[in-house]
Amino acid sequence: MEQTSNTMPSSYMRICCPCHFGLESVLKFELVRLGAADIAAADGRVCFSGDWTMLAAANIELTVAERVLIELGSFSVKAQHGKTAFDPLFDGVMHLPLEHFIGVNDAFPVKGSSLNSALHSVPACQAIVKKAAVKRLQKAYRTTTLPETGAVHQLQFQIRNDFCTVYLDTSGMPLHKRGWRQLAGTAPIRETLAAGILDLSRVRPQTQLCDPFCGSGTFLIEGAARAMHIAPGLHRRFASERWEAMPKSAWFDAREAARAKIKRDVEFRAVGYDIDPQAVEIARENAKKAGVSEKISVLQADIRDFQASPEQLIVCNPPYGERLLDVEAARALYKTMGTVFPKENAVSVISPDQTFEQCFGRKAVKRRKLYNGMLQCNLYQYWK
Ligand SMILES: C[S@@+](CC[C@H](N)C(=O)[O-])C[C@H]1O[C@@H](n2cnc3c(N)ncnc32)[C@H](O)[C@@H]1O
Repeated sequence: MEQTSNTMPSSYMRICCPCHFGLESVLKFELVRLGAADIAAADGRVCFSGDWTMLAAANIELTVAERVLIELGSFSVKAQHGKTAFDPLFDGVMHLPLEHFIGVNDAFPVKGSSLNSALHSVPACQAIVKKAAVKRLQKAYRTTTLPETGAVHQLQFQIRNDFCTVYLDTSGMPLHKRGWRQLAGTAPIRETLAAGILDLSRVRPQTQLCDPFCGSGTFLIEGAARAMHIAPGLHRRFASERWEAMPKSAWFDAREAARAKIKRDVEFRAVGYDIDPQAVEIARENAKKAGVSEKISVLQADIRDFQASPEQLIVCNPPYGERLLDVEAARALYKTMGTVFPKENAVSVISPDQTFEQCFGRKAVKRRKLYNGMLQCNLYQYWK
C-alpha cells in the first residue's frame, strides 16, 4: 500500500482524536460544531482535517476526546522480498516529514502498540522507530548530535494488521485532566466519559441536574461547564504550546474564541448527594476550583432518603460492586434507586451489571454500550 504523509504543517493537517468506545458520535458532532473538515469516525477515534488553530481549539474545547494527535503518515509493514517487516517500518518512518514539527534540540520519545501483525514486539518496534527518526532528523539538520533537551514531541506508532500509522501527540497530559480535580473520591468517573454521558443525556443551559452518588462531583462539574459552554481545556496547558513549529497566535485565537462562548447567565443548577461526608467536601472543593460552585450544591445523604422534583435530570454512576461495595450490596442499591427515583424523571445510569434493569424494576428506553476503562458497561436511559 502506498505511503501517505502530512507534509505541510502550515496548511491543513490530518488530526486524530482517540475517545472512549461508544462516544465516537458525540465527538463527531463536537468536531462539526468546531468547524472541522473531512470528519471520519472509526472505533474509538475520530479523525479530521484542520490547521494549527483548529488543533489548538480541539485541545481546548473537545469534551470527550482523550488526546489530539497529528497523523504524520501511514504505510504497510508487511515483510517482502525476503526482508523482515522491520525494514518497511524503518523506511516508512524515514519518509515522514518529522523536521516540519520537531526542532533540532527537541525531545522525541517513542511509544506505541501492535495488534494482529508480524511486528508484535512493541519494544523492538519502538527501537526501530526511534532509530529511523534519529536518522531522518540528523539528515534534515545535517548534524550527528540531537541533544533532545527541548520541547517534548511524543511520537506514537500504532500497528494494526501489518499497517502502521505514526502520530505526534499535541496534548501531553491526557485531556480528561481538566485541571480542577486535585482531589478524587474512591471510584471517580473519567471526566471525558462523564462529559459524553451528559451529552447523551441532553444536558442544556436550562437543565436541572441531579447526581445522588456524586462522589468527587464529576457529573455536576462537567454538567455545569457544558451548560455554560466553559471549554474543558481553558484551565490547563498542552505539550504543543512549547513547540516552535506551532504559531503562538493559534493558541491565542483558540483561547479567545473559547472564552467568547462562555455564558454564565444560564438557568442550569446541579445538586449532588453522597453518603460519604468526605466525598461531599471533595465535590464542593472541586466545584470551586472549576469556577462553577455558584451553580452547584452538594449535600450528605443516603440514597434511601432521596427525593427529586419532576424537572430534574438524574445522572449517576452508582457503586458497581467492584471497587465499592460487593455485587449484592450494589444490587440492593439499584433496587432502592428503583423505588426512590420518580417515574416522571429522566434518568441515565451507567453500570456494568447486566441485571441492572431487573434490580431497578424498569426496562430502559435506551441501552447504550459504553466502556468505563476496561469495564464494559451500559448506559441505561429513561426519558421523561
Ligand atoms: C462510583 S462512585 C461515584 C463517583 C463519582 N461519579 C465521581 O466521579 O467521583 C459511587 C459513590 O456512591 C457513594 N455511595 C455509596 N453508597 C451510597 C448510598 N447508600 N447513598 C448515597 N451515596 C452512596 C459512594 O460514597 C461513592 O462516592
